Amino acid sequence: MQPMNQPNQPTPYLGVLHRYGHLLDLPAHTRPVTLLEGDTRLIPVPRLAEELGGDFELYVKFEGLNPTGSFKDRGMTAAVSEALGRGAKAVICASTGNTAASAAAYAARSGLKAVVLIPQGKVAAGKLAGAVAYGAQVVQIEGSFDDALAMVVEISNKHPIALVNSINPYRIEGQKTAAFEICDTLGSAPDWLCLPVGNAGNITAYWAGFRQYERLHGTGLPHILGVQAAGSAPLVLGHPVEHPETVATAIRIGKPARGEQALQAAEESGGRIIAVSDEEILAMQKRLAGEGIWVEPASAAGLAGLAHEIAAGIFKPQGKRIVAVCTGHGLKDPDIITRAMPLPEALPPRLEVLEEVILG
Ligand code: F0G
Repeated sequence: MQPMNQPNQPTPYLGVLHRYGHLLDLPAHTRPVTLLEGDTRLIPVPRLAEELGGDFELYVKFEGLNPTGSFKDRGMTAAVSEALGRGAKAVICASTGNTAASAAAYAARSGLKAVVLIPQGKVAAGKLAGAVAYGAQVVQIEGSFDDALAMVVEISNKHPIALVNSINPYRIEGQKTAAFEICDTLGSAPDWLCLPVGNAGNITAYWAGFRQYERLHGTGLPHILGVQAAGSAPLVLGHPVEHPETVATAIRIGKPARGEQALQAAEESGGRIIAVSDEEILAMQKRLAGEGIWVEPASAAGLAGLAHEIAAGIFKPQGKRIVAVCTGHGLKDPDIITRAMPLPEALPPRLEVLEEVILG
């Protein structure tokens, strides 16, 4: 008998712990909880590269394509899997929004309780809604992210509640997978990686991931350009910022928990940490949307930093291969767009009126 024609059976993708778990330093008790995070696209943006003034390869690693719409899901699958395996009943975090939504989702997936602390009035609508939708207990703190972080550290030391901020080493382990993916996709590390910096977990994890892949596979090392918002730039100023302010609320952080490691990553890689204005961040958000890639403001900071350095003549991109990490989806923060948006014109349902309006 002839064998029946089988449809193509692609290898199933089962998330970052399944794909890269053997490279991650996770305890044996870890019980994987996944939403099939990771495997995000590296989108070429040649027109943007040309606009920025150079003949170079530019890619966007669009982390907004993760299950809860931000890069946090890579580290969260690791942190919650470890907490579950160790018998924790609840997880807690402080958050400017994305960590909260991610912790809430992975806790829901594993049947754990999630408690999230957010700075009052400074969290984008899509993030707060996510945390609520996934069933977390959401607490607003009359203070900053930094105040909230100090509180969750203290409470998790006193009570058996697992802390899932990026102080948790397993968050960094899971997050390293983004660097592995970039090397696997490109065949080597890029010349430069640019990304936004807030609490500095992500930059720490990328650098650790690239170094590990270099040791294992000789994939080379990128220079890292970390970018903060000018009103929240403790790593550029060299001291904590008591009242951080920026339109990029995700990175509105005055005392980054992994600040030292961020500075070390920048220095060791032969890169740097710089600051850009809110105007530059919003302009880059708009330019990216012009490529069909809608990211939240903080996520545009890395590229805004690159654009800033090229325009100032500090950075010569010619011939280089550059990856910009866009950390979260634009849907997270719709207000930033709709606030300044005139209401769309309302027309009677008649073709001739429509023709007049769109064809002039
Ligand atoms: N981009 C986005 C969209 C973020 O949500 C964050 C951090 C960052 C960049 C900076 O990453 O902290 O690792 O340097 N958001 C955290 C949160 C603080 O609570 O969601 P980082």
